[in-house]
Amino acid sequence: MHRARSTIRGAARLRLGRGMSAAATTPAPTPKTQKLLDLSAAYCCRLRAAGFVLSHGEGSYVFDTAGKRYLDFSAGIAVNALGHADAGVVKTIAEQAGKLLHTSNVYHNEWAPRLAELLVTLTQREGGLGFARGTPGGGGAKVFFSNSGTEANEGALKIARKVGKDRVGAGGSKTRIVCFEGAFHGRSMGALSVTPNPKYQAPFAPLIPGVDVGVLNDAAGLETLITEETCAVIVEPIQGEGGVNSASAEWLVALRKRCDAVGACGLYRSGTLWAHSAMPVECHPDMVTMAKPLANGYPIGAVLLRDSVAGTMTAGTHGTTFGGSPLACAVGHHRVLNSRLAELPKRFPGVLEATVRGRQPSTVVEMARSRGVFVLTAGKNVVRLVPSLNVGAEEVDTAVDVIAECIAEL
Ligand SMILES: Cc1ncc(COP(=O)(O)O)c(C=O)c1O
Repeated sequence: MHRARSTIRGAARLRLGRGMSAAATTPAPTPKTQKLLDLSAAYCCRLRAAGFVLSHGEGSYVFDTAGKRYLDFSAGIAVNALGHADAGVVKTIAEQAGKLLHTSNVYHNEWAPRLAELLVTLTQREGGLGFARGTPGGGGAKVFFSNSGTEANEGALKIARKVGKDRVGAGGSKTRIVCFEGAFHGRSMGALSVTPNPKYQAPFAPLIPGVDVGVLNDAAGLETLITEETCAVIVEPIQGEGGVNSASAEWLVALRKRCDAVGACGLYRSGTLWAHSAMPVECHPDMVTMAKPLANGYPIGAVLLRDSVAGTMTAGTHGTTFGGSPLACAVGHHRVLNSRLAELPKRFPGVLEATVRGRQPSTVVEMARSRGVFVLTAGKNVVRLVPSLNVGAEEVDTAVDVIAECIAEL
């Protein structure tokens, strides 16, 4: 955190935004807020949410029904890349909603192919999925649209199973899936089965069989972990939920090499374009799954896959009613075109690097929230900052000041 503070400003003074208090305050809910909280308690499945109700947002800020303003460094769990109520997103949704909301992928629409082309050509320009940075656009990869990250991973696991069966033929067995300790891939039965965390898995066991769990960055273990029976290896180059743990480029190269030796599909899950873009092409995966910020909060997910794998997915092999809707893809297209993906990490490197670990992240989250700043936890010992990508320097200062103050008080 100290590195972050010195990176973005010189003087260590407390600067809080309007409506934010230096000390923790938890005012009693107003009657309107209390009524909504009561309705939620009576009719919604139980949530972990705190005792206030959000009504609207603007840029990096959200407001509750009592008028309190919060600086949102959680961005809907790393989703609202362009912030709240972005004028372009609002216009795109309004225009597309007035034209065509949904048709199903039984029909082509105007936006799915445009967004797919953008994802493939950007990947070629920035590097990833086996394309070296600067590859001229055109062909070589396909996109399958879904509605969430979980569903994208579920689709990718199914594709890998089918590729495995196609490669080995009727007599062989190539169905095992490898994942890694600390991974988080979602909560459907398939995605949960490759999320080896007892907190998430135990209540729903037994899960899908045929999953082998390895250790991130353990090169020596790859030989026995990934075998001729492995059809898929799913790995996050940077584990998010698991506690912001990075896989090294050397290990990812060794992992890909082992996959190639046994003919397994490698797939990463990354929320940005792409965590592996700058790494050697020798470690690139066959599939990349994405969701979260792709349409700035409108639900969408996607699997980006090399043509060599895509060939196995004939029409109707896998499907989804809402995936690739004109509305989701129009918003996704607007968002990706306007994302300035690479800017924020360059502007605030210390803030985005998760270098600070401690013992009480959920206490820091609560203390920061009561001071008007939303942050998240990750794993057991990490406070995760995932602001909108267009956050301003002043907001970053405020968040860092508040978090520093909370840590100092622990
Ligand atoms: C790495 C990773 N994979 C998958 C998911 C699941 O995505 P969704 O919640 O959109 O289903 C998440 C969500 O936090 C994630 O962080």
